[in-house]
Amino acid sequence: MTTLSKPVPPALENSEPDNSSPTNPGQWRNIRFEVLESVEDLPSFNSVVVEFLQLCRKEFYSAQDFEKVICKDQALVARLLKIANCGLFGRSRSVHSIPEAVVLIGLDNLKKIVYAVSSQGIMCSNLMHYDYHPDRGFWIHAMAVGQAAQILSEVCPESGLRPEESFVSGLLHDVGKLVLDKFLGPGPHNSANREVEQMAVGLDHCELAGLILKQWNIPETITGPVRHHHDFQSGEPWKTEAAILSLARGVCREWGVGYEKPHDLSREIHHSRFSAEMEVVGLGESEWDEVVWNLRQSLGKLEEIFSNI
Ligand SMILES: [Fe+2]
Ligand SMILES: [Fe+2]
Repeated sequence: MTTLSKPVPPALENSEPDNSSPTNPGQWRNIRFEVLESVEDLPSFNSVVVEFLQLCRKEFYSAQDFEKVICKDQALVARLLKIANCGLFGRSRSVHSIPEAVVLIGLDNLKKIVYAVSSQGIMCSNLMHYDYHPDRGFWIHAMAVGQAAQILSEVCPESGLRPEESFVSGLLHDVGKLVLDKFLGPGPHNSANREVEQMAVGLDHCELAGLILKQWNIPETITGPVRHHHDFQSGEPWKTEAAILSLARGVCREWGVGYEKPHDLSREIHHSRFSAEMEVVGLGESEWDEVVWNLRQSLGKLEEIFSNI
């Protein structure tokens, strides 16, 4: 581990690039090395998620296949059953097993809870240099973008991802910030952007997310769009999927999900705000209102999951 002192990043918001900030490529190389070491120190992501992704790529799979995967992790099963019994899903009787949970609350709900629980430990961090709400904002933003990406991929026939894969790509799109936050140095607790990240450590959260996801054995179908969620136009061959992510995160941002408490799903969003993304994903202006309505409904349901975990 190098003992190099870290350069101070430029002021974090609404600032011009600070030309006096680290310009020495050697310094960046050393910090980059430290960042990459930190990636290796990250706890591994729950293997259940990786196995879910492998299953959903298969031509045929059943609820029992998912049950078998979940049951490999008994701690996860215990938490799932606790959440399934918390009154969230309006059932008349209690749930005692995963097969029962599949029948009573549905496989899709169960999978959402698995994703929420699996990501909670790693993603419930309070990031110092980003403007998420201190009360679990980063994790809530991640889950919301996952949910929105899933809904959008269902209405976008051009998407090469299964809706479930889109969910996971949204869930993990900003994971690079978890590592970078520790390297942005002292400074205003505000909103770092990719430029600030580049100035401070020589790489941004998109590039870093690609490395983290590779380490976690997340397939390239998800890693590719994540790497390009801020520059989908140059994201071939993942341009469409990256545009879906860009649209999903943009809509969640407009509603303040993960940034404001309470957030506001009733806020109007004009389609012109996202015309570039809509063109790439093949979404017409006439479809916008219905898509936004679906997003509101599904994010509203997700809120109930947050409040019960
Ligand atoms: Fe984001
Ligand atoms: Fe991002």
